[in-house]
Amino acid sequence: MDLKLLENSTSKSSTTLSYVGKSLIYTTGGLALGVSVVCLPFISPAFRKICLPYVPATTEQLINVSKALKGHTGKLIDIGSGDGRIVFSASRLGFKADGVELNRVLVYYSRIVALINNQYKNTRFYKCNLWSFDLKPYNNIVIFGVDQMMPDFEKKVIQEVDNGTVVVACRFPLPNMVPKEIIGQGVDTVWKYVVNR
Ligand SMILES: C[S@@+](CC[C@H](N)C(=O)[O-])C[C@H]1O[C@@H](n2cnc3c(N)ncnc32)[C@H](O)[C@@H]1O
Ligand SMILES: *[C@@H]1O[C@H](CO)[C@@H](O)[C@H](O)[C@H]1NC(C)=O
Ligand SMILES: *[C@@H]1O[C@H](CO)[C@@H](O)[C@H](O)[C@H]1NC(C)=O
Repeated sequence: MDLKLLENSTSKSSTTLSYVGKSLIYTTGGLALGVSVVCLPFISPAFRKICLPYVPATTEQLINVSKALKGHTGKLIDIGSGDGRIVFSASRLGFKADGVELNRVLVYYSRIVALINNQYKNTRFYKCNLWSFDLKPYNNIVIFGVDQMMPDFEKKVIQEVDNGTVVVACRFPLPNMVPKEIIGQGVDTVWKYVVNR
């Protein structure tokens, strides 16, 4: 992960941090409880083979994701939320934005950034495997995945979400659904889909 970024933001706000120290403990404890409710134990072992590395979105990707989300509102989930950058950018656009992330360090880092930037009311970070995370509550989904996982992820989306849900895929498209819009090119390409069933 980007340790330099972590150092910068924590040193800048060291006073804020010590001030919020206690409430942070309560917040993360509270969130952990939420996670155990949401995270149901039906992880298929096959899914564990897919390696989805931590590669943060570029500024171009963030801009293109924001373009794709324009005109939409409601609940958003970033699948594999990393340091939370997509969640925070969606929260600034007015979404109630959540992230699901396997890496505990990145989840705690995102929660600290949320506290420091006063975004903890509109954001939530779940320490959870994406394959056991229920997508049903969300009408907007952002995924920056890897090629090998997209067929299974597409199946999961179609099984779980409501009609009309917006899916924004960065870098790798969904294999079968027809995009409503393709924004950008190369590694910054973003595909926008609307679930219709
Ligand atoms: C390509 S990065 C994208 C990070 C962030 N969404 C962004 O755009 O900056 C993918 C993230 O997914 C996380 N991840 C990998 N496997 C996962 C899984 N099974 N469940 C949840 N998150 C996972 C990784 O730790 C990594 O942070
Ligand atoms: C799903 O939503 C689309 C619009 O996004 C609509 O045209 C279609 O009729 C809906 N399908 C069902 C089964 O409700
Ligand atoms: C998306 O990103 C690309 C970089 O590949 C950039 O050139 C383009 O202007 C972006 N598209 C939009 C609509 O912002």
